[in-house]
Amino acid sequence: LNVGGTAPHLVVGADGLIGGALVAAFRRAGEGVHGTSRRAGPGAAHLDLAAPESAWRLPPAIGAAFLLAGVTDMARCEADPAGTGRINVDATMTLARRAARAGARIVVVSTNLVLAGDRPHARPDAPLAPQNEYARQKAAVERELLGPGFAGHAAVLRITKLAETLAPLLRTWSATLASKRPIAPFSDLVCAPMPLAAAIAALTAIARMSAPGLFHHGGDEDMSYAEIGALLAGRRRAEASLVRPTTSAEAGVRLAARPEHTTLDDAQSRAALGLAPVRSREALDRLLDQLGVAEAG
Ligand SMILES: NC(=O)c1ccc[n+]([C@@H]2O[C@H](COP(=O)([O-])OP(=O)(O)OC[C@H]3O[C@@H](n4cnc5c(N)ncnc54)[C@H](OP(=O)(O)O)[C@@H]3O)[C@@H](O)[C@H]2O)c1
Repeated sequence: LNVGGTAPHLVVGADGLIGGALVAAFRRAGEGVHGTSRRAGPGAAHLDLAAPESAWRLPPAIGAAFLLAGVTDMARCEADPAGTGRINVDATMTLARRAARAGARIVVVSTNLVLAGDRPHARPDAPLAPQNEYARQKAAVERELLGPGFAGHAAVLRITKLAETLAPLLRTWSATLASKRPIAPFSDLVCAPMPLAAAIAALTAIARMSAPGLFHHGGDEDMSYAEIGALLAGRRRAEASLVRPTTSAEAGVRLAARPEHTTLDDAQSRAALGLAPVRSREALDRLLDQLGVAEAG
């Protein structure tokens, strides 16, 4: 039985970073939610987007259906556009149409990388200009879901870099600095970190308000990885000289996307969904707290 008389939500990809946190948020709020996973195990129904559609089982009644499963590794998308496109675009859209026919309101999460990145705080009506194969697949889903051909209720939430996804890199840098060895962060790569909790707040608001259309939510500031490295070193009271910024070109790394700007103009979306602005520096500070990196002072 679900609270409020609405059908339970469906989270496809419940063991992913966003999916797991979203299921937990609905449970905490006492709202009904079903999760799916492609792995065997208790707690989530089995759903593999690579399996034939006939094997997918959906609950009989769904409120919002969050389609969060797919290949999120950009290098894999670049290396196998056809194979990853079958999952990220074809299967995702087949599932979207099927869930919509069953009465679900479709919600997907997209990225700032569908836009050109040639100016800060990109507006939702900026033209699509995907930066790599992963983003081309995201843009294709956006176009289909929000286009006139989709017979259903759909919302797309574009977000910036989730701060939590920086944790492995920050841990590595932290260990390197602890052993008095230098780190070489890129000065020509930026991101606008936002906490996972802010993305969850946007998704739960979209579900609660049954809000359709395109939404933006993200960190307010582009930060280079060199700045992020310097911030970490400051926190650790490491020698500033151990931070030796480089560029991706100097390091011989070909990045799949290197937009100049990654921030999104989310003023309208925040007003519509009742969300607070997200400060990138605060998001990073909080992550460093969580990682146990001591404050300098
Ligand atoms: N994290 C970000 O910074 C960010 C930013 C913008 C947009 N997004 C979007 O938000 C959504 C969720 O992202 P996330 O960070 O939570 O991703 P994630 O942690 O990589 O989770 C993706 C989930 O999809 C599952 N999956 C992969 N292939 C599948 C298949 N064939 N069938 C069923 N499930 C499959 C994965 O399962 P396994 O664990 O078994 O592989 C995993 O549970 C994605 O659409 C992503 O593009 C994320």
